[in-house]
Amino acid sequence: MPNSNKTVYVGMSADLIHPGHINIIDIARGYGEVTVGLLTDSAIASYKRLPSLPFEHRKTIVENVKGVSRVVAQETLDYVPNLKRLKPDFVVHGDDWKTGPQKQTRDQVIEILRQWGGELIEPKYTEGLSSTALNKAVKEVGTTPGARLGRLRRLVAAKPIVRVLEAHNALSGLIVEHSSYHENDHSAEFDAIWLSSLTDSTAKGRPDTEYIDRTSRAQTINEILDVTTKPIIYDGDTGGATEHFTKTVCSLERVGVSAIIIEDKQGLKQNSLYGIEREQVLEEKEVMCRKIHAGKQAQVTEDFMIIARLESLIAKQGVDDAIERAQAYIEAGADAVMIHSCESTTTEITEFCQRYEELTIKVPLVAVPTSYNQIYESELIELGFSVVIYANHLLRSAYPAMLNTAESILKHGRSAEAESRCISAKEILGLIKD
Ligand code: SPV
Ligand code: MG
Repeated sequence: MPNSNKTVYVGMSADLIHPGHINIIDIARGYGEVTVGLLTDSAIASYKRLPSLPFEHRKTIVENVKGVSRVVAQETLDYVPNLKRLKPDFVVHGDDWKTGPQKQTRDQVIEILRQWGGELIEPKYTEGLSSTALNKAVKEVGTTPGARLGRLRRLVAAKPIVRVLEAHNALSGLIVEHSSYHENDHSAEFDAIWLSSLTDSTAKGRPDTEYIDRTSRAQTINEILDVTTKPIIYDGDTGGATEHFTKTVCSLERVGVSAIIIEDKQGLKQNSLYGIEREQVLEEKEVMCRKIHAGKQAQVTEDFMIIARLESLIAKQGVDDAIERAQAYIEAGADAVMIHSCESTTTEITEFCQRYEELTIKVPLVAVPTSYNQIYESELIELGFSVVIYANHLLRSAYPAMLNTAESILKHGRSAEAESRCISAKEILGLIKD
């Protein structure tokens, strides 16, 4: 019989509920009245992938699990704030956190419980059941357009900064999807995919002047959608004529793209990284506003984002112009604003961010630090950015590697010298599962 005078705290993510969770709750119930501390999206995203289900959905599920008396939000990976508030007699957690990234969290739990004589109960971890393994299986199954589309907004809400990397075909999409970095307590991966006009055009051997039409760009999107699950931000160039833009918005939504970024340029669009080496003609502010507004009216889902890209600094029109336009685009309905710069220092970007901070209505800010690449993500967060796009780096690194190999074969009249820089044939065959 449960001891109704005692209280028990169980922290969990409960994204994919499995018998392991039920087992823990069942054991916890034996010690007293169970409060589940359900980790928020931000708490989970601070150490692993954003959960498939948003917090409210997970809360509804856990509230209805037998043996759970109530569910409270656990805002951090750290249990201490909730434990200090609730002072439970027991904390129940599977014994799988004795080693690994959660070890420190466990040590803190033990220490804080000591303050009021609480006790940590650690039932044996249910072998073969782990949300990480289940998540991997879910990832292999794929995603749906709706789930993928909504994920970008959730990421922006849950993470200090959303990290986005360019892809220009299915293979580079797979790199954005699967690459990760782990070292001691630090692990990182990319959150979303940037469908750059520069790299899509270049990969097709064409200039980045809106020459590659929507149909061809849609083919690239489709290839990438087929093999990935992460959200996609589409580089919409100028968005074209307003009447065309509204149709583009709906086509992108239909396939599950999360956002389009359109820039306030007109005429034959030139890539921003040319700066004023090429003529950069800005669109009339009012025309851009009408386009943004029409796009917002046209979209059918709530989650799709229209992001307005400010080219004032590229066209050397100054921070005042950028701020004035930012304000107008936000009023027209932009869900986020991207400020671009091709300076190698952060002076003008910093000034823009300081001025932006003073606006009464603000939306998330997007950075593309290609030219000012010394900046760390932590500094971008400080400046107020919510999204960082590494806009062209996979293609820019692939090209010299390929060129080197081609030249090496020409130089030596054989391929042996190039071999050490190549992935083995066996490995490349293994990259893509049958
Ligand atoms: C792109 O990646 O195509 C962009 C960003 O639009 S930039 O190349 O910096 O203009
Ligand atoms: Mg572009």
